[in-house]
Formats: sequence, structure tokens, C-alpha cells
Amino acid sequence: MISQDILIVGGGLAGLAAALSCDSHLKVAVISKVHPLRSHSVAAQGGINAALGNNPDGKDDSWERHAFDTIKGSDYLADQDVAEVMCQKAVSTIYELEYLGVPFSRFPGGLIAQRPFGGAGFPRTCYAADRTGLVILHTLFEQSIRKQVKFYNEWLVTKLVVKDGKCLGVVVYDLATGQIMPVRTRAAIFATGGYGRVYSKTTNAYINHGSGTGIAYKAGVPLRDMEFVQFHPTSLFGKNILITEGARGEGGYLVNNKGKRFMADYAPSTMELAPRDIVARAIQTEIDKGNGFDDQYIHLDLRHIAEEKIKKRLPGIREICINFAGIDPVEAPIPIQPAQHYSMGGIDIDPKCASQVEGFFAAGECACVGVHGANRLGGNSLLDTVVFGKISGEEASVYIKGSEGTNSDEKILLEEALEVKTRVEEWEKRDSGEKIHRLLERLKVVMSEKVGIFRKKEDLTEGMEKISELKEDYKRVYLSGNCLRYSQELVNLLEFDSMLDLAEVITLGALRREETRGSHYRLDFKERNDKDWLKHTLASCKEGKPQISYSGVNISKYEPEARKY
Ligand code: FUM
Repeated sequence: MISQDILIVGGGLAGLAAALSCDSHLKVAVISKVHPLRSHSVAAQGGINAALGNNPDGKDDSWERHAFDTIKGSDYLADQDVAEVMCQKAVSTIYELEYLGVPFSRFPGGLIAQRPFGGAGFPRTCYAADRTGLVILHTLFEQSIRKQVKFYNEWLVTKLVVKDGKCLGVVVYDLATGQIMPVRTRAAIFATGGYGRVYSKTTNAYINHGSGTGIAYKAGVPLRDMEFVQFHPTSLFGKNILITEGARGEGGYLVNNKGKRFMADYAPSTMELAPRDIVARAIQTEIDKGNGFDDQYIHLDLRHIAEEKIKKRLPGIREICINFAGIDPVEAPIPIQPAQHYSMGGIDIDPKCASQVEGFFAAGECACVGVHGANRLGGNSLLDTVVFGKISGEEASVYIKGSEGTNSDEKILLEEALEVKTRVEEWEKRDSGEKIHRLLERLKVVMSEKVGIFRKKEDLTEGMEKISELKEDYKRVYLSGNCLRYSQELVNLLEFDSMLDLAEVITLGALRREETRGSHYRLDFKERNDKDWLKHTLASCKEGKPQISYSGVNISKYEPEARKY
């Protein structure tokens, strides 16, 4: 049986940052569902925040201002002490990345360039044109190779094995061989990314099923604040490919079918650079009011920006527009619509990235450390992955020094692997029943229609009913293909269980939270209600069903006030 000291699940930015920070004397491996360079971090475009003060308009910036913007942007649901840690570490994080080889864009004098982003008081988003995630991922991957980190690629983790409150290992499906087997570890770090594909319109990659988060939940780890789902204001209409907030940071306008820059009606002082929840709602409202084009999209207009600037700072989105929409943003406005983009919620962890299960850590989008609250600011997600990825590796290493494994672990792990194998055999034996791709499509429609940007009790209740029906139908699924190697059907069958759990927890949390806060907008409770709802939602899996409880928010510095932009 493969046996590790620390097993990192996920080869994106959080996973690689963790791998690089683990103690070099320990046996560390990364398991990734895809080749690490295909992880969804590669798609991050606009940048990473740090109060460097390099932009002439950002001279007065500070990590404290960054923390305040993050907390205000979160609609005061961020844990203020943890947000401060992230923002304080941001500056050294950028210089470390630079030292490791990340080719950031530069201002003419040579300083790392910074652009304005939504909800930020100063231009503090460092970038590499509009391919920031790609260059950081490539750099961290090169450094991981240099450190001789062991990679197991194209392995899907199907189960987290926990016994007596302690993490023992995982069960994996090796796509290349079709084998299902246990892997033993003394500590595991999940860095498995988001669940965007639970929705039909999402900027997320096809791999983003969120199964890591779902597996942790099934194993007894609570999830936090799952009802807070971020919808990015600008995805390419029809394809939902991300069109970076950097396009608005560089001066792009949002325009409706009357030719009006409508953000003046929603966020008069920040306009297109209000936080994402506000801009996404504004766009959807304009479309719903009949001010969109073909009732489906509005325009992101860059034509007033110098052609050279577009080509230099936004080459990727220009290429996307030409290749996927047949338009050149230098000459024509970009048709855009909001799409699911990010999960503020996730595996409940403390500031050391440790969960309630001994030896089980998490970092990045799959986790909720408490820095984004009810709405994440653009540019804070790459920062979160690198800062907390690193902390998770360091803390897991500290944990290992005081832990030990036992031989009885192997027996338990083999039994757990057998359970997964038996499930797969059941699916293979059936020759009729529900087809998984149809269930997937149904789930996406439910989440998009009932748990979208605007929510209300009737829709959320109906959403819960439809998810229950899907859970029943999932009991009748079958595997139609007869080869277990590289079976996307089997991947979907294994991951759908998690997707259903996540959908249920998101919807239930949204139904229970009778207020509007950040990305969670209730048409039937339109105001924020600090008296009753300034608290985190925790969802625990008890006999297959979610149990909701609440915990306090750290308000150490800034008293919640009305969020005006
Ligand atoms: O718009 C963007 O480039 C996305 C950035 C982010 O999600 O932080």
C-alpha cells in the first residue's frame, strides 16, 4: 500500500504552495485528478492583491487598507483576524513569488505593475497581463519538480478515511489503470478547488465538481458558509468563459441596450469597480428589466481604451473574444452575462488550516478559512491559495512531528476501498436505470434556476425537493461503458454523490438564512440583519443528512456598517 507522511490532494495553486512548504524531510506526495498544469488555477486571469503601493494612485495603500476593503467587501462576514493575516502576508507573498520566478507585468521603471480591481480603495492587483494564474501555476509547478515532489496524476480521490476522529488516508480511482485502491497517510491536505459545475452557467473548468469538499463532508468534516456563491459579473455570453475584472480595471464600461453606463444607478462612486456581488446583481437586473441585448446579455465596452493597451494588458481576453465570439474587443463591445465563479464557503478550517478531524487540513477554494465572508473581492482568491496553501503545508508538517500511524490503519483502509469497489461493481452489474449525464444536467438546471443570484423561499424550497428527487434517482444509476480505464462516466458517477450533497447544503443554508448579505440576495428578505444573522453557517453530515448550526464571526476591529460604494 502506498504510504505517505503528507498527502496533498489537488495540484492547483493551493496544493502546490502546500507541497513547497512541507518539511523536506517528510514523505510528501500530491494526488491530482488532472495533470497539475491543467488545474483550474491556470484560468485565473486578472491578478493577485497586495498593498505594494507601486501604482502612482496607490501610494497611500497599506495592508490595513487591504484588510478593511476585504472585510467591507465580505459584508462583514469575514473573520477579521484571519483577513488581517492574509493581507499582512500578501506583500511578502508577492516578493516570494517574484523570487521563485513569476514573471509579473512591470511598470516602466521596473516595479511590479498593479491595476484597480473591484471593491478596492487603491489599485493593488498585481498581474501578468491577463494570465496571472497561468504564470504562478507554472512557476510553482517548476519549483515542485525542483523540490522532487512526488506526483500521482490522473488519480481521483473518492473517499476520505477517518477513524475515531483521525485521518487515516484516502481511497483513489486511478484513471489510467481503472484500479481503485487505498493510500495511507499521516496527514492529508485537501486543495481540491471549487464546485462551479454544480451550476449550468459557470466560469469553472469541467473538472470543478467539488468532490473534495463533498468527500470531506461525508467523512464528518463540517462545511462553512456554503450558501455564499459568487457570480462573476462578466463571462462571455453563451460560453461563460471568464472575461477578467481586469478589463474593467483597465477602464472598460458596462453598457445596456440604451447605451447607458448603468452602474451609475447602482454604485455611483465606484461604477464598474464595485464589488462583484453588486455588479453581478446590477447586470442581471438590467437584463431582467429588458435593458439587455436579446434579453440575455449586456455589453462590456473597451473600444475607448487604446488598442496598444488592450493588446498588452488583456491579450488573453482579446484572443478568447476572437476565437469564441468572433469579435475583436478593439473594434466591438463584448457580450457578457454573469456566471457562477467562486465558492466563498467550504471545508471549515481554523487559521492554521486544520479541520476538526485530526490530521486533516484544507486550503484554497475548497476550504473556508473565513477571509471572504459573504463576498470575495477579485484578486483575493489567488492570494488565499498561496498564503493558506503555504500555511497548510507548514502546519501539517508540525502536526506530523507529534503523530504516529498504526498497522491497524491498513485493514481499515482496505475495507474502505472495498466499499468503493463494491459500489462500482453494483453500477456495472445493472444494465438499465438512470444515466448519470442526465442527472448532472438536471442538477445544474435546479441550481441555476432555484439557487442563483436572486433567491426566495418558494424557489429554495422547490430546489430542496428537486435535490431530494435527484438523490432518489441517483440510487438507480448504472455504468453503461464496460471499461474502467479513463471512464468519464465513472468519474461522474463517483463525484455526483458529492455534488448532490453540496447542492443540498448550499440550498438549505440559503433557505435558512433569512437576510441579504453579500452574494446571498433574498428577494423576500432584502436587508442585511446583523442582529440575527451576523454568524457563520455550519453544515454537518449526520446519517447522510445536513444538520445546520451557527458560529460567531470574529469582529476584532471594524464594527459592521452599511456597505456603500
Ligand atoms: O476577473 C478575474 O480576473 C478574476 C479574478 C478573481 O476571481 O480573483
